[in-house]
Amino acid sequence: MKEKLEQLKDKAISAIKEADSLGLLEKVELQYFGRKGGILNSILKALKDLSGEDKKEIGQLANKIKFDLLNLIEEKRKELSSKKIDQALEKDDIDITMPGKKKELGSLNPNTIVQNELEDIFRSLGFMILDGPELESDYYNFEALNIPEHHPARDMQDTFYIKGKEGSKRLLRTHTSPVQIRAMQKYGAPIRAVAPGRVFRYEALDASHENNFYQLEGLMIDKDISIVNLIAVMKTLLKGIFKKDVKVRLRPGYFPFVEPGFELDIHCLICNGKGCSVCKQTGWLELLPCGMVHPNVLRAGNIDPEKYSGFAFGLGLTRLVMMRYGINDIRLINSGDLRFLKQF
Ligand code: PHE
Repeated sequence: MKEKLEQLKDKAISAIKEADSLGLLEKVELQYFGRKGGILNSILKALKDLSGEDKKEIGQLANKIKFDLLNLIEEKRKELSSKKIDQALEKDDIDITMPGKKKELGSLNPNTIVQNELEDIFRSLGFMILDGPELESDYYNFEALNIPEHHPARDMQDTFYIKGKEGSKRLLRTHTSPVQIRAMQKYGAPIRAVAPGRVFRYEALDASHENNFYQLEGLMIDKDISIVNLIAVMKTLLKGIFKKDVKVRLRPGYFPFVEPGFELDIHCLICNGKGCSVCKQTGWLELLPCGMVHPNVLRAGNIDPEKYSGFAFGLGLTRLVMMRYGINDIRLINSGDLRFLKQF
């Protein structure tokens, strides 16, 4: 019996050593230790038929063999598992230097980021956020804003006219100012509103001109509104956006829908006022044309100019974006170029 056990042990050891895959090792393990028909297990079961001394001696031997073999199998299993990983690495099945799969999240266009911030600032000042059509009528874009047909002021804004039914006179809005009229007609006075949106100009493209850009129109009408209110709101706005004091200058500006009218320029932040292609070498950038709403415009909006006054401004949103992020070419913003857009 002893001999038989020793033989069995030797056979099992060599079988374990020879097993060169985890699958084969498992087979060997089952062969000897399987619950049903496992050779060693059946021997251990047969022990009960032996007599006293033999039972003890053989029993101890059998148990020792059992544990030795099980240890050996465990060691072999570890060895084979690490070998399997090594082999996979060798075969390049697993490249541990490869980065994980990254989920690509889009980002907001810088125009949208700044627009959202502006909306927050104006909401905190009690302004409504309004929207208006990009395809406008000649009436809202020009007539109601005190720019009659054949008035030379129309030349200030090169326009895309749209062919339509005869007499329909549609155009792509050249500014967000038509929303002033729409807002007055809809809500009456007093009113505080801003209207961000896309505008169109039929223009030759260069570093600071696009035929497709964004403005944010502002309108505040109430009793006793003066230039002081206008300047206060402009200052709050610029501080909120640049988070620091920015040098500005106010100079007279002509827009038929305001009287008096101003140009609020800011010190060019691209070149720090030295002069560059964005500020046309002047060191200053027209950013905030503004003024007191012209009585004719109030009338077009059904508001009595004897009772109410107000100011309006047309913030160059896209220009502001360029200043804020130091973008030196306006054409990048609508380019759809991911190398540019991914930076925001
Ligand atoms: N709409 C004018 C423009 O685009 C800007 C402006 C708006 C000026 C409001 C004064 C008041 O040029």
